[in-house]
Amino acid sequence: MKILAIETSCDETAIAILDNLKILSNIVLSQIKTHKPFGGVVPNLAKREHQKNLPIVLKKALKESGISLSKIDAIAVTYGPGLEPALWTGINFAKELAREWKKKLITVNHLEGHIYASFLPKTREFLISNFQFPKFPILALIVSGGHTELVLMKKHLNYKILGETLDDAAGEAFDKVARLLKLEYPGGPEISKLAEKERKTLNLKGLAQRDGASRENFQQKIIRAEKIQSFSFPRPMINSPDLNFSFSGLKTAVLYHLRDNPNANKKEVAYEFEQAVIDVLIKKTEKAIKKYEPKSLVVGGGVAANKALRHSLENLSKKYPEMSLYLSPMWLTGDNATMIAVTAHFKARAKKFASPEKIKAQGNLKLE
Ligand code: KG4
Ligand code: ZN
Repeated sequence: MKILAIETSCDETAIAILDNLKILSNIVLSQIKTHKPFGGVVPNLAKREHQKNLPIVLKKALKESGISLSKIDAIAVTYGPGLEPALWTGINFAKELAREWKKKLITVNHLEGHIYASFLPKTREFLISNFQFPKFPILALIVSGGHTELVLMKKHLNYKILGETLDDAAGEAFDKVARLLKLEYPGGPEISKLAEKERKTLNLKGLAQRDGASRENFQQKIIRAEKIQSFSFPRPMINSPDLNFSFSGLKTAVLYHLRDNPNANKKEVAYEFEQAVIDVLIKKTEKAIKKYEPKSLVVGGGVAANKALRHSLENLSKKYPEMSLYLSPMWLTGDNATMIAVTAHFKARAKKFASPEKIKAQGNLKLE
């Protein structure tokens, strides 16, 4: 089964071709440069860029795969969630291709894609037979620019949302705090770089927060050590009985801290902020593990590229030997079409095809 997948939900124009989960091509054209001057993604600019880029990306993808469109069995496309003008360009392009080449269509939820990205091994050149898929039940942690969700999957394509953010997504918080620190868009990687530098310094002094160590001990240690980091940010909802998240208060705490300390050290702020996000993500994920006893924990979305988060998740999974951890391969954490094609592969196996006249962009599409 050869699937060509199209992803245009935000600011990446992406097309991938997979042959039974073997990646024949994966092309991602980022529009970061276009949106950078605006400090975020401008929907109509994204639409214009997708329209311009889709034919170019298609050509590249076909060339890289070495196969022609006539050999493709189905065309998959992201239909939400995301920016509707951007989603529509991908949908219209997919419909046009399907009509012209008489192909079946498969619609994919972008968030399913982020989950299924973890169904691929770390490197592109792999022997699929050697790779063990995550076993069900799966607990999925999605951490992206628009979403923060804990999802339970008892079988393929079956999702139960256990918890989600009540306001900002984790990636959104990274981006907003980056703006407060006057860092470039997208802010996640920039904050992460600064935080890593601070983490190294603290590590050298034996002061970095250890996973599992209590926050109080950590703080006392810091206070004893000449107040290296004399402030801390809240861990919103960390002890709430549910599995929901909230990150907007954390962003506000950073805002006030910077207002009251105009000379604050950016590295310290980045570190403390990142650690606050990670603490909450880990605590809630662990809560879900204890409650649902999943056989696998899979993690996807742009924030899953965060080194410190990956490290903490690895440490967390060591506490649960019955459970295997599947972090999305680094190169599939951000938006791409390979993850859409992987999801479509399982949809095709379940004969879940879409009729073209019914496909609509759904900006607020939920997992169901
Ligand atoms: O999944 P994604 O590419 O797009 C959405 O579906 O939203 O996620 C993008 C988000 C952005 O907020 C970006 O700042 C964040 O992922 N991000 C990171 C890192 N790399 C990307 N956040 C923290 N640390 C990173 N290394
Ligand atoms: Zn995404």
